[in-house]
Amino acid sequence: MKGIILAGGAGSRLHPMTTAVSKQLMPVYDKPLIYYPLTTLMLAGIREILIITTPRDQPAFQSLLGDGGRWGLDLTFAVQDQPRGLADAYRIGADFVDGGPSALILGDNLFYGHEAGRVFARAADTLDARRGAVVFAYRVSDPRRYGVVELDGQGRPLSIEEKPDDPRSPWAVTGLYIYDGQAPELAARLQPSARGELEITDLNRAYLEQGRLGVERLGRGFAWLDTGTPDSLLDAAAFVRTLEQRQGFKIACPEEVAWRMGWIDAAQLARLAEGFGGADYGAYLRGVANDEAR
Ligand code: G1P
Repeated sequence: MKGIILAGGAGSRLHPMTTAVSKQLMPVYDKPLIYYPLTTLMLAGIREILIITTPRDQPAFQSLLGDGGRWGLDLTFAVQDQPRGLADAYRIGADFVDGGPSALILGDNLFYGHEAGRVFARAADTLDARRGAVVFAYRVSDPRRYGVVELDGQGRPLSIEEKPDDPRSPWAVTGLYIYDGQAPELAARLQPSARGELEITDLNRAYLEQGRLGVERLGRGFAWLDTGTPDSLLDAAAFVRTLEQRQGFKIACPEEVAWRMGWIDAAQLARLAEGFGGADYGAYLRGVANDEAR
């Protein structure tokens, strides 16, 4: 399966921090924000990834990530010249997905949970004639800020609405979506919403109306954080710092994930570590391979 990371947008709620720098390059404790969705896709086994950015920010993402080869990935880049909405990713990415299934993840979403990658990969495996799309729902205290899905007693979706004033459930639709090859065609038929955007919720509703939308609930042991405001960005950083300092493991470290997935060998991990010189990040990478033996 291929993956798309949508890292466009003006990040206006983070101005002036994002006046000159992309939101998805903001630090979340010790790493750029985009490492979090990137490693979520990696942990789900996805290696071929399209990164959509604004034209202004594309060179910065390329200098951070390169072609992904050093992590065993195949990264390509595309631009979204106007913030036309999340579903626009499937207009931009139509040739990239080339009729096949794909996962779309928002560049500012942070997922954390035991075996999260396997949960996402398993859901992806269920795409077939019956389930053409899978979204992940997470219980939140303020559903009005999100897409909201209403479920029946069996966990099947009844309705899906974007930022409803009067939410029918506490289940927010998170920013990770898995679609079959029909997504570009359905996205091409969408009309802009009242806020002038091609809404991902409308794409999901198109699948729902066909009876082909699956919903996987992420339980209370998962963390799903967004990072669109100064407070939520700081909360995410504090969350990552707390866990990393407690366990001595890093969250969302692409070098480590690539190594644990078997996409790079110990010699390559050591080479990557050397590239960080005296930085703590390099020392961590050096420790990763050794630590396994204990
Ligand atoms: C977008 C989607 C919304 C989803 C959210 C997840 O909201 O439109 O359905 O719940 O991402 O992060 P936005 O970030 O555009 O406010």
